Amino acid sequence: MPEQLEQMVREAIADEISAVAMYSTMANMVDNLTLKAVIMSIVADEFGHARTWMTLLETGF
Ligand SMILES: [Fe+2]
Repeated sequence: MPEQLEQMVREAIADEISAVAMYSTMANMVDNLTLKAVIMSIVADEFGHARTWMTLLETGF
């Protein structure tokens, strides 16, 4: 994998993890359980994105 691409993937992973943290904070700020569930579903999506990027990084595409 080209070095620049690897660096971009590492930044993408950091961004996805950042999104997980931010959305988790948001989920903890709402009382409505439906809204909380929707936000937690988004958290799971973002975590999945991070995992996908990490797998691609490990396999080198
Ligand atoms: Fe994402």
